[in-house]
Amino acid sequence: MTDNKADYRDVNRANWDDRAQAHAASADYNVAAFAADPAHLSHVVSFDVPLLGDISGLRGVHLQCHIGTDTVSLARLGARMTGVDFSPKSLEQARALATGAGNDVDFVESDVYGAADLLGHGGFDLVYTGIGALCWLPDIARWAQTVAALLKPGGRLFIREGHPVLSALEYDRSDGLLVLKDPYFETAEPQIYDDGGTYVETDVEFTHNVTHEWNHGIGEIVTAVLDAGMTLTGLVEHRSVPWEAMPGLMTKTPGDEWQLTDRPERLPHTYTLQAVRNAV
Ligand SMILES: C[S@@+](CC[C@H](N)C(=O)[O-])C[C@H]1O[C@@H](n2cnc3c(N)ncnc32)[C@H](O)[C@@H]1O
Repeated sequence: MTDNKADYRDVNRANWDDRAQAHAASADYNVAAFAADPAHLSHVVSFDVPLLGDISGLRGVHLQCHIGTDTVSLARLGARMTGVDFSPKSLEQARALATGAGNDVDFVESDVYGAADLLGHGGFDLVYTGIGALCWLPDIARWAQTVAALLKPGGRLFIREGHPVLSALEYDRSDGLLVLKDPYFETAEPQIYDDGGTYVETDVEFTHNVTHEWNHGIGEIVTAVLDAGMTLTGLVEHRSVPWEAMPGLMTKTPGDEWQLTDRPERLPHTYTLQAVRNAV
């Protein structure tokens, strides 16, 4: 293990802790709507509903739940939810959100890779994750093993995530070309970024701005899921992404997502992957 890998959790956790309060206060996350309207769902989960189907009565875990907007939304669809994140400041916001919203959700502090040891093996009907989750993890095979360990036989993985092609693109071009700049495949070493901003509109100035991130190709993700003892049940590539992933080059869709303005059909923006844990 390199020095970079040894401290990636500390570096990334400081970045997320720094941003949690600003995210919860932002119009983009619209936390107030959960208390104001008991039927309100996050935009992300609303998009998922047609593929997610009926989840009422399921015992679900949301990996990398951040400030809990999607976790509470899944609880509102009838699942008994536990949210997991390694950022205590994010979990503070998540607990306050659930209390204000009147939804009973457990939030647990853990690194993703430690989630099954903490929450127990084989206890969940549903593992839900995504929208900026996998890029923080160095080893996709270990992630898939963690997901499989959390699931009961027959339990389901549901992930909608930024597409690895989108993650590999150079974002600040003005010539309309889509150019691969960063790795598409998983690499041993992280991409190290230093970015003082965040993906919501805010005036807050942050102090912890370095992140360590990894991309994972679609084939690597599918292979990891299969190798971990799950069967793929769905893989859909989408033409939109919930955040303005390429600032200045994207336009809002009627569904309130973001899409490349110029010939969006060139780019897989996000994907939804579903799998079921095999019987043992
Ligand atoms: C973009 S958020 C994804 C959550 C959700 N899509 C949202 O937008 O609210 C990424 C989350 O992953 C968490 N995270 C990053 N690396 C982690 C790790 N190794 N273990 C647990 N959580 C992690 C961060 O603390 C952050 O809350």
